[in-house]
Amino acid sequence: MFDKESHPLTKLDFIKERKHWKKENIFIDDFKLEIAGHPVMERWEEPYMKRLAEIATMNGGKVLEVGFGLGISASYIQQSPLEEHHIIEANDQVFERMKCFAKSAKCRTILHSGFWEDISSKFDDKFFDGILFDTYPITLEELHTARFSFFSEAHRLLKSGGVFTHYSGELDFTDEYTQYLHKAGFSKFSGELVSVNPPNDCLYWRSNQIMAPIIIKP
Ligand SMILES: C[S@@+](CC[C@H](N)C(=O)[O-])C[C@H]1O[C@@H](n2cnc3c(N)ncnc32)[C@H](O)[C@@H]1O
Repeated sequence: MFDKESHPLTKLDFIKERKHWKKENIFIDDFKLEIAGHPVMERWEEPYMKRLAEIATMNGGKVLEVGFGLGISASYIQQSPLEEHHIIEANDQVFERMKCFAKSAKCRTILHSGFWEDISSKFDDKFFDGILFDTYPITLEELHTARFSFFSEAHRLLKSGGVFTHYSGELDFTDEYTQYLHKAGFSKFSGELVSVNPPNDCLYWRSNQIMAPIIIKP
């Protein structure tokens, strides 16, 4: 059972209003991306991002990515011959880096600036063949639910047979996780454990494995 109070990220201050995320300064070095003082993305996730990108692109076609971060998964997505790679990103400074990325992208790359909550409704039902969702809990209230809130939209946006994957923060499909998937209309899903090596001071993942979900739209 998830215990919000004891989660290490609660030691950090969260921004009061979501809309401030857009204008927050970012800090980037070889190992991490920080926004508003939060460890939004860390380099140790690379093998995990590689696997998520392979899953999201397994049907080719049009792929949606939510959350650009360090662009690690985006680079792996571009290794597949796709029709279109759409990316939604909420922070303005990360968005600027994404523009540089798109200039040298191999396949047609379409960038969307803003929160997915304000953008995804512009896509028709069944528009995408694959989706990779990897955002970050912007407020304390979203700490445990940020990914679950996207599940029904993922189901709407995917073609039949389309594949959805996301940063899980899990080693298995817990009862709660499974309930959210069922509620969104997904019944066919499996997971693969990917080996990772997070540093001891990582505030959001401690295990040397993490599950890559493979969720198929019926
Ligand atoms: C964990 S990082 C993504 C890491 C990326 N997969 C990579 O490989 O580098 C999360 C990104 O999602 C963005 N983000 C957070 N909430 C968002 C939202 N609701 N809509 C769109 N982007 C969001 C953050 O600004 C950040 O750039």
